[in-house]
Amino acid sequence: MEEIIKKAEILIDALPYIRNFFGKTFVIKYGGAAQTKDELKESFAKDVVMLNYIGIRTVIVHGGGPKISATMERMGKKPEFINGQRVTDQETMDIVEMVLGGLINKEIVSLINRHGGRAVGLSGKDGGLIKARKKGIKKPTAETGGGEVIDLGLVGEVTSVDPAVIEGLERSGFIPVVSPIGAGPDGETLNINADFVASAISSSLKAEKLMLLTDVPGLLDKGGKVIPTLRKGEMDALLKDGTIAGGMVPKVMACLNAILNGVGKTHIVDGRVPHCLLLEIFTKEGIGTEILV
Ligand SMILES: Nc1ncnc2c1ncn2[C@@H]1O[C@H](COP(=O)(O)OP(=O)(O)OP(=O)(O)O)[C@@H](O)[C@H]1O
Ligand SMILES: [Mg+2]
Repeated sequence: MEEIIKKAEILIDALPYIRNFFGKTFVIKYGGAAQTKDELKESFAKDVVMLNYIGIRTVIVHGGGPKISATMERMGKKPEFINGQRVTDQETMDIVEMVLGGLINKEIVSLINRHGGRAVGLSGKDGGLIKARKKGIKKPTAETGGGEVIDLGLVGEVTSVDPAVIEGLERSGFIPVVSPIGAGPDGETLNINADFVASAISSSLKAEKLMLLTDVPGLLDKGGKVIPTLRKGEMDALLKDGTIAGGMVPKVMACLNAILNGVGKTHIVDGRVPHCLLLEIFTKEGIGTEILV
């Protein structure tokens, strides 16, 4: 008896959060690096379904870095990165689109549907969701401290989001699952970092939360300890001294942009922890790193 009363108490502990978040939208970026073990994928899908049944709307944006690289290698192509971003020629773009929009997107859709949700997969091309343009990046050089502009190929940055297709799906009780591909001005397909896509979508929806699930416990300091909250003012120093590097750079930028554009809260969360979504949402302590202005 005591056991089941305890269970009821745990459920009731979630009441203030459920009341607060009822009807609100959370944008969740499911990082490729966190899509590892089958049990974890299951617990992710169950969390998403649970959130929707208690009235929290979710939009999932997924990455797929490791799977894209593995597929490229299987096809005899060497993945190449500059500043944590994939160099994308046309052949690589074809692989990216197949793996992200085909394999990974549909895997997440089926997982959610198997647990009783109604997920619909789409890419940024569908319904004109994401317009993008080619992105040139500057590579810092030791001598000049400045930078030569590098062509990453078909790598894009979001120029605008038309959330109508997502809003329509949400209104009908569907769970949108978005792959981070956008259409360029001439209809070309562009590969966009999923953190930025999630950020732009969360801003356009004025979402309650943006949550980035990844394969580390949060933003780590030089000593490898989680930084529970990071403010805008503290960011520059950590970027300059290389504490924030590689795939973490787009994450902090994505969170900051979202916060500055009207998203309620942003978190970087360890997607390898079972039920990380529920832990972050329904506990006072939360987990991972919260980015604040
Ligand atoms: N200060 C830092 N704290 C934590 N991780 C960091 C830091 N600096 C760099 N990283 C790296 O960032 C990585 C996470 O970004 P990464 O792009 O690899 O994964 P993801 O974004 O979750 O997946 P995907 O890119 O496939 O969507 C970590 O695995 C870690 O190696
Ligand atoms: Mg990444």
